[in-house]
Amino acid sequence: MTSGNAMTRLGRFFVQSDITRVLTLDVSKAPAENTMADLQCRLLDVDGLQQLRSSQAFSVTEAFVDDFVTQRFTGVAAHVDGRVVGVCFFVRNSVAARHNRGGEQFKGIGISLPPHTQYLFKVEVLPDFRGRRVHAAMTAFAIANIDVGNLRAIVTTTHWRNKAYLASVYRQGFSARGMASELIVAGKHLFFISPPFDVIESEIDGEQGHRVRLHSAI
Ligand SMILES: CC(C)(COP(=O)(O)OP(=O)(O)OC[C@H]1O[C@@H](n2cnc3c(N)ncnc32)[C@H](O)[C@@H]1OP(=O)(O)O)[C@@H](O)C(=O)NCCC(=O)NCCS
Repeated sequence: MTSGNAMTRLGRFFVQSDITRVLTLDVSKAPAENTMADLQCRLLDVDGLQQLRSSQAFSVTEAFVDDFVTQRFTGVAAHVDGRVVGVCFFVRNSVAARHNRGGEQFKGIGISLPPHTQYLFKVEVLPDFRGRRVHAAMTAFAIANIDVGNLRAIVTTTHWRNKAYLASVYRQGFSARGMASELIVAGKHLFFISPPFDVIESEIDGEQGHRVRLHSAI
């Protein structure tokens, strides 16, 4: 092992980061896109989600199914020839940090959103179906079918280097709004929220992690 490798590993031990881009979509400007003739989208119910958990085709855990019910997630599944090839999930507010890509070692950044928004927090398309606009079809279906009344904007976050997701959401009309980052430095959690968000409320809470409220940006 070279000393350079040792330094890199030491650095990772002391600094872990979950750096996300925050993007929003004005749903009135979103294209109604379904470019796959053989694809159909449907809302997911808890039985359908349990089946997906059993099949292990998607990263759906028992804890996720529990939270789907108790936190009232909305799920959309894309079907091709009777098979689910993609899923996405929306919620009205923050999701537990355990569902973050970064995992449970991060406390997560709780974002309180205005009532006319939904948070798109998890999207998965099966590898064989990627690059075929399945995600765009699910978003368009969700906009038409999520029963919240007066849905005006969708907020999403992704790892800042997730090129496939960024290509997908930019094509759908999402705009980059800023960055939300959590760093763990030698066991201490640090949070950074970039402008142009109006962070009008923030606190560091040992249990809940960092919480912010955003308003004028969406
Ligand atoms: C990110 C993801 C949801 C995009 O869904 P999608 O329906 O494939 O989206 P698109 O068809 O618009 O393709 C988006 C980009 O994926 C990339 N892509 C294309 N084919 C691909 C393939 N076979 N495998 C991987 N990525 C591919 C391309 O960069 C494409 O952009 P381009 O067409 O401008 O070149 C999907 O790649 C996925 O499930 N990834 C793993 C999970 C993930 O990262 N989720 C997002 C974080 S919550």
